Amino acid sequence: MQKLKILITGGAGYIGSHVLRLLGDTTNHEIVVVDNLETGREESILYGRHENFDIGDIERLEELLKNEKFDACFHFAGSIIVPESVSDPIKYYKNNTVKTLCLIELCLKYNVNKFVFSSTAAVYAQNDSGIYKEDDLIKPGNPYGKTKYMTEWMLEDISNAYPDFNYLILRYFNVAGASLDGVIGQAGKTSTHLVKIASEVAVGKRDKMYIYGEDYKTKDGTCIRDYIHVLDLADAHIKGLEYLFQKNESVVFNVGYNQGYSVHEVLNAMRQAMEHEIPASISSRRPGDDAVLVANCDKIKSKLNWQPKYNDIKLICKTAANWESKL
Ligand SMILES: NC(=O)c1ccc[n+]([C@@H]2O[C@H](COP(=O)([O-])OP(=O)(O)OC[C@H]3O[C@@H](n4cnc5c(N)ncnc54)[C@H](O)[C@@H]3O)[C@@H](O)[C@H]2O)c1
Repeated sequence: MQKLKILITGGAGYIGSHVLRLLGDTTNHEIVVVDNLETGREESILYGRHENFDIGDIERLEELLKNEKFDACFHFAGSIIVPESVSDPIKYYKNNTVKTLCLIELCLKYNVNKFVFSSTAAVYAQNDSGIYKEDDLIKPGNPYGKTKYMTEWMLEDISNAYPDFNYLILRYFNVAGASLDGVIGQAGKTSTHLVKIASEVAVGKRDKMYIYGEDYKTKDGTCIRDYIHVLDLADAHIKGLEYLFQKNESVVFNVGYNQGYSVHEVLNAMRQAMEHEIPASISSRRPGDDAVLVANCDKIKSKLNWQPKYNDIKLICKTAANWESKL
């Protein structure tokens, strides 16, 4: 592939820093990261140049896009805590939707015509099977999911109006794990993600954790999720970028493993990986939690020839806890 100049928003964050590292390790693309470090870490930016500002600072963003002539943008910057989006929806509509629209508008103005967007399984309407395909019904159940779907809509309409502008939308399922060497991982201090919290318990940062609901209609009564290792997710981004440049067409993909684990299974995997107990007690259900949320990933596998390498729940837990112990 030809050498590209790439803008990465949110490249100091959990997923952005893994994509940045993989790009740096495997390509010679030139990279600029824009991240205001609200939840990201400067130390996680292992390649490229960092510009520390908020993407809502339109003047700085325009100056950058005008001067740099980017070929593509990976857009990871955003706010990601679902309960916070319920209590403070304005923050989410501003940071995830309004600022993204301004970014896309500037991308169009300065011919950044390939746009990769981090969306989420939270856009789907709940169905009985708990397995989701890209063309299933959409009905996000919380403001976070709505902000993400609004961006999907904007991208679709804008790409229809400006056919040279192509997007890749990746709907992530439950992203977990960390780099194999423990150098980068998930740092957010208020994360509600199961593997992150279990890792905090595993390394002694929390005394115990809670299992929200043991009365779901699942094999052991706890919720089932599709946990994807962040390194496989990063690889999907790189392959997706190549696809955008080869095909010049916009596309939406789920990214997960077609396979779910219950909360009990994840905790057992963490216990085995760490060889010690992870204290957990049962609490009541949280509003809005689906019983099962698993990706159908046939589309990304067939179109991108994406083959996951780290589909191993114990490895996911081990790498997450290893990173947590160094954080
Ligand atoms: N982590 C998951 O499981 C998951 C699942 C589905 C979708 N996503 C999406 O993936 C993307 C990345 O998520 P993450 O887990 O890496 O989160 P993260 O919080 O670790 O990373 C987000 C990064 O964006 C930066 N940022 C936020 N708002 C900004 C702004 N206005 N200007 C500049 N920088 C800003 C933060 O400082 C941080 O470095 C998000 O868009 C999120 O919605 C994540």
